[in-house]
Amino acid sequence: SPLRLSHNLDEERRELPLYTETINLKSQRKHNDITGFEPGDNAAPFQIKTLDGEFIYPLQKKWSVIFHAFTNNSAFLECLWSSNASLTDLVEYLPENTHVLFLSLDETAAKDALWMREMVYRIASGSHRGKDVLSRLHFSPVPVFALGNWIPKVLYSWGCTGHNCGLAQAVFTSTEWDLPLITKRLNARYDWLNGYWDQKPYRLKDGGDGCTPNSSVAGAVAWVSEGGCSFFTKVKNMAASKAVGVVVYASAGQPIKDMNCIGGECNTALGIPAAMVHLETSVDSALRAGKAVNVSFQTTPSPNFFFGLDQQGALAEMGWLLYPTFRFLNWQAQWFDYQEGLRGHLERPATVVPVFDRVQMQGEHGAQATVDLPAGVLEYNVLELDASLSCPGRRDETCAHWDHTAQLFVCCDHFGPSCNAELGRWITAFRRGTGRWITDVSPLMPLLNSGRCAFTMKTVAWAMPWVVSLNLRFSHSNQSAFLVKETDDIERLQPFKLTSLFGGGTFDKGYNKRFQPLKFTIPASTKKVELYAVITGHGSDEYGCGEFCVTSHHVLVNGIFNNTRIFDSAGSALGCALRVAEGAVPNEHGTWLYGRGGWCDGLQVNPWRVDITKQLDWSGTNSILYFGLYDGMDPNPASNPGYIVMSSYLVFYK
Ligand SMILES: *[C@@H]1O[C@H](CO)[C@@H](O)[C@H](O)[C@H]1NC(C)=O
Ligand SMILES: *[C@@H]1O[C@H](CO)[C@@H](O)[C@H](O)[C@H]1NC(C)=O
Ligand SMILES: *[C@@H]1O[C@H](CO)[C@@H](O)[C@H](O)[C@H]1NC(C)=O
Ligand SMILES: *[C@@H]1O[C@H](CO)[C@@H](O)[C@H](O)[C@H]1NC(C)=O
Ligand SMILES: *[C@@H]1O[C@H](CO)[C@@H](O)[C@H](O)[C@H]1NC(C)=O
Ligand SMILES: *[C@@H]1O[C@H](CO)[C@@H](O)[C@H](O)[C@H]1NC(C)=O
Repeated sequence: SPLRLSHNLDEERRELPLYTETINLKSQRKHNDITGFEPGDNAAPFQIKTLDGEFIYPLQKKWSVIFHAFTNNSAFLECLWSSNASLTDLVEYLPENTHVLFLSLDETAAKDALWMREMVYRIASGSHRGKDVLSRLHFSPVPVFALGNWIPKVLYSWGCTGHNCGLAQAVFTSTEWDLPLITKRLNARYDWLNGYWDQKPYRLKDGGDGCTPNSSVAGAVAWVSEGGCSFFTKVKNMAASKAVGVVVYASAGQPIKDMNCIGGECNTALGIPAAMVHLETSVDSALRAGKAVNVSFQTTPSPNFFFGLDQQGALAEMGWLLYPTFRFLNWQAQWFDYQEGLRGHLERPATVVPVFDRVQMQGEHGAQATVDLPAGVLEYNVLELDASLSCPGRRDETCAHWDHTAQLFVCCDHFGPSCNAELGRWITAFRRGTGRWITDVSPLMPLLNSGRCAFTMKTVAWAMPWVVSLNLRFSHSNQSAFLVKETDDIERLQPFKLTSLFGGGTFDKGYNKRFQPLKFTIPASTKKVELYAVITGHGSDEYGCGEFCVTSHHVLVNGIFNNTRIFDSAGSALGCALRVAEGAVPNEHGTWLYGRGGWCDGLQVNPWRVDITKQLDWSGTNSILYFGLYDGMDPNPASNPGYIVMSSYLVFYK
């Protein structure tokens, strides 16, 4: 379905802390180690009564565990549990080696546990995965406040802000009543409506069912019943009637729903906030009697509702749940699997050269280090970057905002043309500090052309600090860079020369006019030639280019061979969520789920590699030309053009 592809700037801006403190990383870590309940700390053994017996930790196998503490004081959680789509997501997509422990924060825990189990059973009974998934879901009738182990401490002490945290409420007042009426609310989906509630009382006016415009709501928040027409139609009509917000109340016996637009509706910006609540009959009758009623909106802090334990038993935050679906739990669990795979990869033999060990990256200088490469590393044919981006503190709340490019530049020969060439690129994970990725950059090994190299890793100068770690991993492999000879024996090939090709630039009408064909001949002893390009699209013109539009990138060799890379998931609803298994950090702030132009939030940018050996004239001169298209044509935005960040090389192997 089409999307409104904008970050909700206001919402982000309001939670931006003033970040002036210089944090002493070492002392902070030490302090937190004593408490023993920070992300990354190991979970102590525990056992908890469940409806089916007992949940005993550690488990028999290396499984991850997700903890969820329910309370019906949260409309978000009520919706999470009563939406079929959400429950179906849990049943259909929970990774195979994940267990979930469901708890309740309330006195009604025994009843809640039965209810939660029944909700899942209902959906699971219709799924072929049902039986397996149910065997990994555990429901505890013991309220969190009575557990008597370390779990309440984590739930109560891990701060949390955002959609899945705190108790969002609507407060109704009237001269008719002595006390305000306070009820749980769920705001309309984050990326649909751009408006937000001010911290002030609004006048509330009856808008009927909202299916027709009604001028009586002008200047007020419209009180609107569920049903009769879509949520979109209601909000649209009330906005057209000059209402400043909409409160939709659920029909009797109906749960609170996640108000969202559907399909083409999402292309219309509505600009006012909306929320859903249960019907409060006194509000309704006061309005019908023509009495003045005011409404204001508040969020009361709550314990955290979610945390996890990875396969190693380390405590982990779960990030932001952008909207109420269990899919976000699955994504976190997938991330645990990814991390476990990464640990396995790191155990493979390699010569590891440390570059950064928890170094702060901020400002114009970024993070810098000069490293002496051990003799002989260039004999290897695999070079991997093992990079991580974490935050000044151990909690995600200390992490930087936004998804920016983070680029690694290397200079080994200060007088050579490749000084400060780009060796790697990542995109920061919006307010999450768990990212760690291994990127194979073997073709770029010729950049390491002296024994001493200066490394610089940078993001935009004004971003809040990130803490980077980076190791170079040199190894031998039979999986990259080979030539299978006719005799079937395998010969390892070594990249020995790089020629820099094209950079990107402003993605406007003149974009392709700036590129000219480059001519080259093939050096003696070359056995293979590869095209290596790292391309990402950013910015937002009227077509969403280059971040959210589908662009194609072409490298034309000798006027005939049209090598093509298309960013076809750009702008798709789950384009980046589907890459969590490859390392995209899940449950970030903002709209990390959407596909983007060649990148995802919280992920390395994979190079585009094409073997062009067979496209070349080995005895004469070759030509190579790059161009980038939007919708098969030169870009042509009316205003506000986006831009392409690109580095590209010809790699010669011998
Ligand atoms: C949650 O609260 C709503 C209304 O506030 C109620 O209708 C529903 O039955 C409650 N659910 C549970 C499991 O208590
Ligand atoms: C949810 O699923 C249950 C059982 O699968 C079904 O009976 C019910 O009608 C569904 N509700 C909605 C709103 O689709
Ligand atoms: C009710 O809201 C109106 C409109 O915002 C405001 O002028 C008025 O002071 C409010 N009344 C109370 C009692 O808060
Ligand atoms: C507008 O709302 C008022 C108050 O609910 C109602 O009396 C009136 O009939 C509505 N008008 C229309 C056109 O729906
Ligand atoms: C190539 O790698 C595979 C596993 O990745 C290994 O089983 C095989 O022995 C290797 N072959 C050579 C020639 O190194
Ligand atoms: C290369 O392919 C793209 C479509 O994939 C096409 O639009 C473009 O015209 C082609 N260019 C040449 C020179 O063949």
